[in-house]
Amino acid sequence: MKHFLDTQDFSRGELLRMMALIGLLKRADKQGALPPLLAGASLGMIFEEPSTRTRVSFEVAMTKLGGHALYLKPGEIHLGERENIKDTSQVISRMVDAIEARTLKNKTLLDLAANATVPVINGLTDYNHPTQVVCDVFTMLEHKLPEKELSDLRVVFIGDATNVCASLLMMCTRMGMHFTHVAPPKYQAPEAWQRIGRENCAVSGGSLTISDDPVASVRDADFIYTDLWWWVGQEAEIPERRAAFMPRYQVNLALFEAAPPHARMMHCLPASRGVEATDAVLDHPRSIIYDQSENRLHTEKAILVTFIHPRLRKPPEALRQWHAGQIHSFLSEPALESAP
Ligand code: CP
Repeated sequence: MKHFLDTQDFSRGELLRMMALIGLLKRADKQGALPPLLAGASLGMIFEEPSTRTRVSFEVAMTKLGGHALYLKPGEIHLGERENIKDTSQVISRMVDAIEARTLKNKTLLDLAANATVPVINGLTDYNHPTQVVCDVFTMLEHKLPEKELSDLRVVFIGDATNVCASLLMMCTRMGMHFTHVAPPKYQAPEAWQRIGRENCAVSGGSLTISDDPVASVRDADFIYTDLWWWVGQEAEIPERRAAFMPRYQVNLALFEAAPPHARMMHCLPASRGVEATDAVLDHPRSIIYDQSENRLHTEKAILVTFIHPRLRKPPEALRQWHAGQIHSFLSEPALESAP
C-alpha cells in the first residue's frame, strides 16, 4: 500500500509530476471546470491537534472533487483511548477511501499506515509536514524569476528546526535546490536530517548549508522562510528560546532588505506576528504567505487524486443497471408482516 507520509518516499520525478498535477487542478478549479474525479469517495480526517489550513484544505478539496470528508477530532473517536491504533486503522479503512492524519507523534502515523488498507496521508506530525512543503515548492515555482530553473533556487529558512524545517530541507535538497538553515547552533537542523539532505544533494545536485549568520545567508536568497520559535508543549522554554533567537534571527524589514530585491517572504502559518517575523515583512508586497495557504487546497486535491482516483472502482454500466434492477425489484415486493 502506497501512503503519503514523507517526501523521501518519492523520487524527484514523482514529486515533479505531483506538482504538475497541482497546476492542472488549480487551473481547472479557477475556471470552475474541475472534474468530479473523486465522486462518491470518502476521506477520514484524524486530528490530534488543531488545524486551520490542513483541515479546511482537505475537506474543501474532497467536496470540490465530488467526494466527502469526515473531521474526526480529538475526543470524538476512540483512537489511543479506548481502542488501539490497529483496530481504529483497520475499521476506518473498511469505510473510507483514504485517511488523512495529524498526529502528535510520528510513530502514531506510521502505526496507522502500517495497519491501514487504504492510503494514509500525513497532515503533520512532530517529525515532518510533507503536504506543506510540496505546496511550498509549487508556490516557489509560481513566484520564481522566469529566467531561473528549479535547480537555481536558493531557499533560506531562518529559525527553529521545526517539522516544517525538516520537510523543507528534505524536499528542497531532493529537488536539486539550494537550502540553508540559519539558527543559533543549539537550534540547528540535527545531524540525522543533515545526513538525509546531503544524500539527496549527492543525487540531485542541490546543496545544504547550515549557518548561524542570517544577514550573510539571505544575500543571495530567492525565498526567505520562517516558522514558529516554539509550539504547544514548549511553553516552559519560551524565555530561553526568545533570548536565543531575538533579535538576530527575527525576519524583520532590515533583514529582508539585505536579500535581493526579488526575494519573496514565506511562512507556513500560523505565525506569531512580531516574534519570528514582523508585520512589515509578513504583509510586504513580496510576501507570498497567503498564496502558500491557498495552494494547500490545490496541493491536497493533487495528493487526493493521486492516491484515491486509481483505486476507485469504475463498474461497467450494465453491471450497475443489473444491481439497480435487483434492488428495485426487492424494494417493490410487499414487506413481510411483522411477527405477532
Ligand atoms: N500550515 C499548517 O499546517 O497550518 P494548520 O496548522 O492551520 O493546518
